Amino acid sequence: MPIRINEQEKSFCIETENTMYQMKADEYGVLKHIWYGEHTGCDMEYLLDYPDVGFSGNIYDAGNKRNYSLDTMPLEYSASGIGDFRLSAISAVHSDGSNALDLRYQGYFTKKGKYSIMGLPCVYADEDTAETLEILLKDITSNITVILKYGVLDKLDIITRSAVIMNSWKYPVTLKKAFSICLDFPQGNLEWVHFHGRHAMERIVERAPLIHGIAESSSERGASSHQQNPSVLLCDKNCTEENGSCFGAVLIYSGSFQTKIECDQLDQVRMVMGINPKSFSWILKEGEKFYTPEVILSYSGKGMQVLSHNFHRVIRNNVCRGKYKLAERSVLINNWEATYYDFDDKKLLSIAKDAARLGVDMLVIDDGWFGKRNDDRSGLGDWFVNENKIKEGLCSLVEKVRSLGLKCGIWFEPEMVSEDSILYREHPDWAIKIPNRKPMRSRFQLVLDLTRQDVRDYIYNSVSRILKCADISYVKWDMNRSICDWYSAELSPERQGEMPHRYILGLYELLEKLTSDFPDVLFEGCSGGGGRFDAGMLYYCPQIWCSDNTDAYERTKIQYGTSFFYPISSMGTHVSAVPNHQTGRTIPLESRAVVAMAGSFGYELDPSTLSQQETLDVRNQIRRYKKYRTLIHNGFYYRLSNPIDDNYAVWSFVSSDRTQVLVQGMIFHTKANVLRTPIKLRGLSPDKKYILESSGQVYTGKALMEGGILLPRSWGDYYPVEMYFTAFL
Ligand code: GLA
Repeated sequence: MPIRINEQEKSFCIETENTMYQMKADEYGVLKHIWYGEHTGCDMEYLLDYPDVGFSGNIYDAGNKRNYSLDTMPLEYSASGIGDFRLSAISAVHSDGSNALDLRYQGYFTKKGKYSIMGLPCVYADEDTAETLEILLKDITSNITVILKYGVLDKLDIITRSAVIMNSWKYPVTLKKAFSICLDFPQGNLEWVHFHGRHAMERIVERAPLIHGIAESSSERGASSHQQNPSVLLCDKNCTEENGSCFGAVLIYSGSFQTKIECDQLDQVRMVMGINPKSFSWILKEGEKFYTPEVILSYSGKGMQVLSHNFHRVIRNNVCRGKYKLAERSVLINNWEATYYDFDDKKLLSIAKDAARLGVDMLVIDDGWFGKRNDDRSGLGDWFVNENKIKEGLCSLVEKVRSLGLKCGIWFEPEMVSEDSILYREHPDWAIKIPNRKPMRSRFQLVLDLTRQDVRDYIYNSVSRILKCADISYVKWDMNRSICDWYSAELSPERQGEMPHRYILGLYELLEKLTSDFPDVLFEGCSGGGGRFDAGMLYYCPQIWCSDNTDAYERTKIQYGTSFFYPISSMGTHVSAVPNHQTGRTIPLESRAVVAMAGSFGYELDPSTLSQQETLDVRNQIRRYKKYRTLIHNGFYYRLSNPIDDNYAVWSFVSSDRTQVLVQGMIFHTKANVLRTPIKLRGLSPDKKYILESSGQVYTGKALMEGGILLPRSWGDYYPVEMYFTAFL
């Protein structure tokens, strides 16, 4: 039983294979957080200390206990306004204008299986692989209750959390903040790892000590964003890939989010995570409920690689859905960097013909096939074929592509509208803007109000019409701007603060409907590359275009950061032409391929520009990717270097039976007269013998892990690395 409850002591212990999570309601009904970390088999409450700290007051019922203060204790879900002056998880304004909630324990409930959340993506699991614990808290004055939900996937070392807030009394209440979790670390002394970036350079790893005060990583852009990611890692100062304690948290949400971490006056650490309160408020009338998004938590006492494996496994198996989540993905060719808007059906067919000869499985027709769309100034919203470009119609083009042996995919940006479009001329009120103000334009486009049912219906009908009329196997769902000017004519003035979250609920409803009505279509997420790379989108789209930056050198850093939480199969990764279109850098074709193989692989170039030798090389790359892709997607992924600091990026995939090992990467800059670098492999069987395919040389697993393997002697910059080992007894 992963959930153990002592009813008399009102204590709760969640146990997973290697971790333990404890909390307890004390004599006042305050739910204290006791422990999250290593499975010690012991009640860890003895570690809590209760100092009498000046200016940290006491709840009324504590009488003369000067050392009982909410401000100094680890709490499971701290509310604002009642004397815990640290970060709070929830803040609610009552009808009299006061802002306080004093949440006390009321009871609990457990069930087999994993809870789900109305309207929101979350981890799912079979009845016999998960359990749910619900703890009910109630404000001692009002009838506001909070249900804290815990999903336990014990074999995976995963605990999920979310909260439901209910108003059961006659007065409305306005939520100003409703985080998914509050997680206290009374022992403090942690470092913070987060993932920042910008368009075309997403999820760059940054590790920093916590300072006294508050660290924040967040987005207010209406999307999870390129700039910060809704995932965070807290670790020991000495934590490495292989050693030390670390905690990970991933928010399953695609809108504006906030993660805050406070190191308090007593060096304790508190983290809160959830919907960004800066652009949120929510009115709860009598009988109404609010559901927070879910956070996935995991702990590893064996360094970050185990933490990453835990998240890869749960996201790939228990967040991603549909027939493609574990399927071998097709090798695709996308025409974006090959043609941009300048193409017609002839050009697309010639790309498809060349691609078929290379071994590619699918042609993806990117932006520009619809409406009046010859640049980014017009056409969004008009999802019907542009017959000046696709002269004989989409169906006939798709049929021709299919007769070459290729499947066909297509690009949409359904959430957007160009002012120069039929849709906008007919429905200017469907675009998000504030009355009497000019909206912000970005890439010349406006955002559709997805909180409206008629807008969602229009999008559903437009996309499904195309998917029904042509034999389309794949959709790239793009979203190319940040959102502001929040206002919806459908919402009353006091409810406008609900709009950013309602937008995401509308998006999820739409994606749910489309992905379930078209189960044979693979949906790939995209937002100017990786601007909405989050577990919420992965629930609908098992892969996401990782970045608009296809420069393989920069991609090693982007994919490195992405790999901390998100599975390798979830990253869309393509080989593009040189000089690279984002950086002007020229990198050998083989190195570009090796980097793109660490994901869901494809090409984004015009194959007619390849030389004879390059054509042979590409054929060989596709053959190799197809040979390795099960290992790449199902194997354990190891980061064998840190490409931010090292002169090389090297990673490996090890099959679960440890009989296959693929090492790939790139040496950035070649130096004269230096020793070759040994790279220590990980996750092998020490006693097994491994044969290196390219040389036939045999090594023991122990040798490869303790001594390592020398990287190749490089020649020129951005030199490729690939070594494939198989084990024999
Ligand atoms: C975004 C995507 C690109 C491409 C363009 C088309 O930037 O990330 O891959 O689809 O839009 O406009």
